[in-house]
Amino acid sequence: MSWGRRDGSLLKNYGQSLRGSKITITVGIGIFLGCICAFMFSHGFLGSDSQLQERTQTSNITSQQEENNANLRKQVKELTEKLQRAQQETDQAQKQVRVMGEKKKAGPFGMVKSARTNPTVAPDESVNPRLAKLLEGVAVKKELIVTLANSNVKEMLEVWFTSIKRVGITNYLVVALDDEVEDFCKSNKVPVYKRDPDEGIDSIAKTGGSHAVSGLKFRVLREFLQLGYSVLLSDIDIVYLQNPFDHIYRDSDIESMTDGHDNMTAYGYTDVFDEPAMGWSRYAFTMRIWVYNSGFFYIRPTFPAIELLDRVAGRLSRENAWDQAVFNEELFYPSYLRYDGLYASRRTMDFYNFMNSKVLFKTVRHDGRLRKHKPVVVHVNYHPDKLPRMKAVVEFYVNGKQDALAPFSLGSG
Ligand SMILES: *[C@@H]1O[C@H](CO)[C@@H](O)[C@H](O)[C@H]1NC(C)=O
Ligand SMILES: *[C@@H]1O[C@H](CO)[C@@H](O)[C@H](O)[C@H]1NC(C)=O
Repeated sequence: MSWGRRDGSLLKNYGQSLRGSKITITVGIGIFLGCICAFMFSHGFLGSDSQLQERTQTSNITSQQEENNANLRKQVKELTEKLQRAQQETDQAQKQVRVMGEKKKAGPFGMVKSARTNPTVAPDESVNPRLAKLLEGVAVKKELIVTLANSNVKEMLEVWFTSIKRVGITNYLVVALDDEVEDFCKSNKVPVYKRDPDEGIDSIAKTGGSHAVSGLKFRVLREFLQLGYSVLLSDIDIVYLQNPFDHIYRDSDIESMTDGHDNMTAYGYTDVFDEPAMGWSRYAFTMRIWVYNSGFFYIRPTFPAIELLDRVAGRLSRENAWDQAVFNEELFYPSYLRYDGLYASRRTMDFYNFMNSKVLFKTVRHDGRLRKHKPVVVHVNYHPDKLPRMKAVVEFYVNGKQDALAPFSLGSG
């Protein structure tokens, strides 16, 4: 906003408030006259016969007035008490608001912007001094890509970090879940971090089932956030074609890749449910959005973001649930009954830049114009034959092999 524009709107406000006060005075006079009328004829212009008779007797008007006055005084007293109570409640609310920050006026129509970029937490190095030291060397502008890997996914890991190196990204880190992966990374000059064996959650990585391991991801992430870093969490089945940090908005607690495949499914739409038996109200409107992909998201070090990680990790430790479903439920459900919704701010990533393999194999590879657009990353999330498809993505986008994507089926069937 320029200063000129701000001055202009101030003048406009001043003009509005002048007009406003004239209106207030006019309305005030109206109310005053109205009160007198209501007071004189408080039992109605067409009161009962007996009341009309009373009013004609001048001697009795004073007693009538006194009675009305008493009533009025009583009403005023009640109103005053109500106002005082309301004032007390408002004071309470204001105190709470003051804790959150300086109170501001809403301003003119169309100029109001609510906050979605929450303040970051104060970094706490005591959480993990060794990781803190490591991140000082690896992170760029307090952000980095993080993945978790064990030796079962070594081949995919190689495609993953080779694509990262190819586009010149340096701020990335592999959290090694076993010694073999740690050695593999070291021999390939890939930044790697292996947790100390006595750090309790590591036993999950070795002995836990797949659900427990997905839970581990959220616990490990928490430390990065506590140390004050923003993390682009990445699954291993992702090929990097551009530097994602040039395409992140950084305005939300969570900025995530979508499982959606077009404008509606990725960004949200209204779906109408039809129940003909209801007749006039047969159409029920529902709001839909396809889930966020919990294998690729940018998370800022804020309280809502850390609470999200805690909620998801907590539920995964108690329930036998799919981490992506839990991640989305915690992110999207509102408060109801005794449940408190999270209200982290969210942004859906551009599905052509942060492309899932459904978009690629269903739409993009068949569309002459879309084929020319180079995505930032491609995530082979929709297909079980991950490694050959990752390699085909590299062939198509990096080596320009135009028919590299053709042999693959749309689905896995
Ligand atoms: C005045 O009105 C009261 C009722 O409000 C009635 O009882 C009384 O008799 C009236 N007095 C005269 C003088 O009319
Ligand atoms: C999807 O949305 C974008 C941005 O609003 C728009 O430019 C594009 O035409 C839309 N695509 C379709 C198929 O509607």
